[in-house]
Amino acid sequence: MRPRVHVTRRVPARVRAALDESFAADVRDSELPPSRAELLAASAGCAGLVTTPAERVDGELLDAAGPGLAVIANYGVGLDNVDVEVATRRGVLVANTPGVLTEATAELTIALLLALVRRVAEGDRLIRRREPWTLAPTFMLGVGLQGRTLGIVGPGRIGSEVARLATAFGMHVLHAGRRPRPGRVPLGELFERAHVVSLHAPLTPETHHLIGRDELRAMRADAVLVNVSRGPVVDERALVDALRAGEIAGAALDVYEREPEVEAGLLELENVVLAPHLGSATVEAREAMGMLCVRALRAVLLEGGQPPNAVNPDALRTLS
Ligand code: DGY
Repeated sequence: MRPRVHVTRRVPARVRAALDESFAADVRDSELPPSRAELLAASAGCAGLVTTPAERVDGELLDAAGPGLAVIANYGVGLDNVDVEVATRRGVLVANTPGVLTEATAELTIALLLALVRRVAEGDRLIRRREPWTLAPTFMLGVGLQGRTLGIVGPGRIGSEVARLATAFGMHVLHAGRRPRPGRVPLGELFERAHVVSLHAPLTPETHHLIGRDELRAMRADAVLVNVSRGPVVDERALVDALRAGEIAGAALDVYEREPEVEAGLLELENVVLAPHLGSATVEAREAMGMLCVRALRAVLLEGGQPPNAVNPDALRTLS
């Protein structure tokens, strides 16, 4: 009998075919999240789960799945939705999808940054409102990136790729992170010097509201903030206040504190670009992420081994 696996969302066709080939796969054919009750019920009796960053994976879900649950493959690199400690204690292996979404997420960071500083989304709205316009020397001026300073907060894989792309635009790069590397500065200095502050840190208790009122005030008045990491890294209300007060010049956001809800004040501001969590949303990345999930399920459920993308390899030892 093939192991039972529940997948909480529709997946790309190649991923679906790979799931069906190896498992009795119950794939929810929807892009919308399941209700909690639906998720708990669908997980019962499963050996594997594929979840997304929008689903809370905790003791309650593991209880609902039951003792046969051996592996959870999270369709994303961020793990703030997963209680990895509880999973480890119960011998459930957790895997994520690192590496394959680096370029996609870095490209989206640059896309949001350019849309903001060159006022692309604002111009698009103006045209759709059918407002009169014409090319004029002072019309809708943005600012360029050449010669400006980019401050990367959390220079992991994605932050480092953003830095690489930004240098092609002639930007100088500063980093604030744990590892010593060229351009590393304390966070306070990064806020003082950067024209662009780009967030790439994972959400942890330490990074929750890492950007609050004081940090926004410490930034340059002509600085813009880009967040493609996790919404709660930024205090969204403080951000709205800082933008209204002109403490910073703009913001480009892909993630939100109470996702998919967006702080109402942000919707009213022209110097804000908003995307619906599209960081890894390319055909290539989402397929590769799905195939990494399948690989993790196969490794644990069919081969009795350890997937390379396991985040808690100790889980298997817990049971042995
Ligand atoms: C991730 O991988 O954590 C992304 O946010 C999903 O797009």
